[in-house]
Amino acid sequence: MAPRGHHLTEVALLASASADLAAAGAGEREGWLDDPAVLPSLGPRARALAVASAARSVLVIVPVTEGGGGGVTVEPALGPEEGRISAVEWVPLTAEEDGDGEEGVAVAIGTDTGWLLFYSLAGDLLHKQSIYPAKILKLNFRERKENAWEDSGSNELSVVFPGVIARFDGADLQSILQKSFQDVKSRLWKDKFEEEDASDEGSFGRIPFRIWNVSKFGSCADAAIVGLMPPPLLELQSSQRHYCAITVGEDAVVSAYRLSEDRGRSIVGAILSRGVAATFSTISSLSKILWRSEPSPPKKSRPKPQSFAKTSPLTCLKDSPRKGERLTLSPSGTLAAITDSLGRILLLDTHALVAVRLWKGYRDASCLFVEMLLNKDKASSSSMHIEYTKSDYCLCLAIHAPRKGIIEVWKMRTGSRLLTIPCPKGSRILQPSARLSSTYSYTPLEVYLFNGDSGQLSVLNSHVG
Ligand SMILES: *[C@@H]1O[C@H](CO)[C@@H](O)[C@H](O)[C@H]1NC(C)=O
Repeated sequence: MAPRGHHLTEVALLASASADLAAAGAGEREGWLDDPAVLPSLGPRARALAVASAARSVLVIVPVTEGGGGGVTVEPALGPEEGRISAVEWVPLTAEEDGDGEEGVAVAIGTDTGWLLFYSLAGDLLHKQSIYPAKILKLNFRERKENAWEDSGSNELSVVFPGVIARFDGADLQSILQKSFQDVKSRLWKDKFEEEDASDEGSFGRIPFRIWNVSKFGSCADAAIVGLMPPPLLELQSSQRHYCAITVGEDAVVSAYRLSEDRGRSIVGAILSRGVAATFSTISSLSKILWRSEPSPPKKSRPKPQSFAKTSPLTCLKDSPRKGERLTLSPSGTLAAITDSLGRILLLDTHALVAVRLWKGYRDASCLFVEMLLNKDKASSSSMHIEYTKSDYCLCLAIHAPRKGIIEVWKMRTGSRLLTIPCPKGSRILQPSARLSSTYSYTPLEVYLFNGDSGQLSVLNSHVG
């Protein structure tokens, strides 16, 4: 256990990776990580860090475990059509921790013209697809294992555009990326690569997704799919699935929408939703059929955007001149922390769609939910290894206020401030997109701090008091 008062524990010093990170701008000047065009993202279990630079058009992936040595620098082949990198996210390819982190993960980058590209840790291009002709504001992979006892939906990758949101089902994404990964490994893909034009989407096939127009109350600056929601009254037929989405933006600070999806339309999804333990070979042979049957489009022409699925506006909170800026969801999706242009942070109950708390005076803040152990006797009783369960942890919100140079930790929903930690300039708080919980012990939701100037990556200790 860390000594009292020491709330951060160093995980790695990534200075030895500076040669790799330098490709993304590290060390060029103090505070390089404050540049909004520099996009850091932490891999599952904080085993690796990806940093993309829009200005330099590079993606750098450095392992955390080896002190940052042996990184990979990818220069995606982005022409004028693909535009510049605008978002980065990690996508686990397996649901469970399998002990081999190298194989089980991919890095996705989104561009400001709406392309999505997936890379392996070795820097091989696994997949490329055009989603929608607009800037990708955010990519967010979410695990939905939290509520395994109820139908809380499957893992997903959401893609946020101004006024538009798209959703990839985790199973569809993972089956195709895993296949691609195998192809890369067996070098079959390399042959294919040489035959066909690599920049042509046609050589990759398509991963099915749904896309919704969520601009009824104005365009959005950020958005998230909160989770499944019950069907509207008098609409009991069950081929439809409904998600609730929250958007924040200029005209309406917060808006909520019901996104409907006709599950009958996805072939891959239909097989999986029947509850059949679809084997990997079933999926991969199926995707081959889909790929073959796809009419080969004329080279270089970008596929037409997919039509929007049904959206119903639910509510909106207007509070001009306040503009919603960023949105962070709690693990179960029941709470959202929303920052706005007037330096306020709003805590929203996403089921009741009501504000439960408001903080003021936090300009340019970023928020992440975190799980903390409060005054656990177990912690200090002995040096024995203790297993904590989910119920031992308390959900909190970590607020990084860069103008104040601090990180605060507040107990949810209406609890007190537990910690105030000084935070050097040029740092960002980060959280792995997936926890890859093992079946043996509970993995709490953690928050990391990356100091770009010193290269220090630290974790916020979960013990308080
Ligand atoms: C999205 O919906 C809004 C109104 O709800 C409409 O004005 C806008 O044209 C739609 N956008 C597209 C691209 O269809």
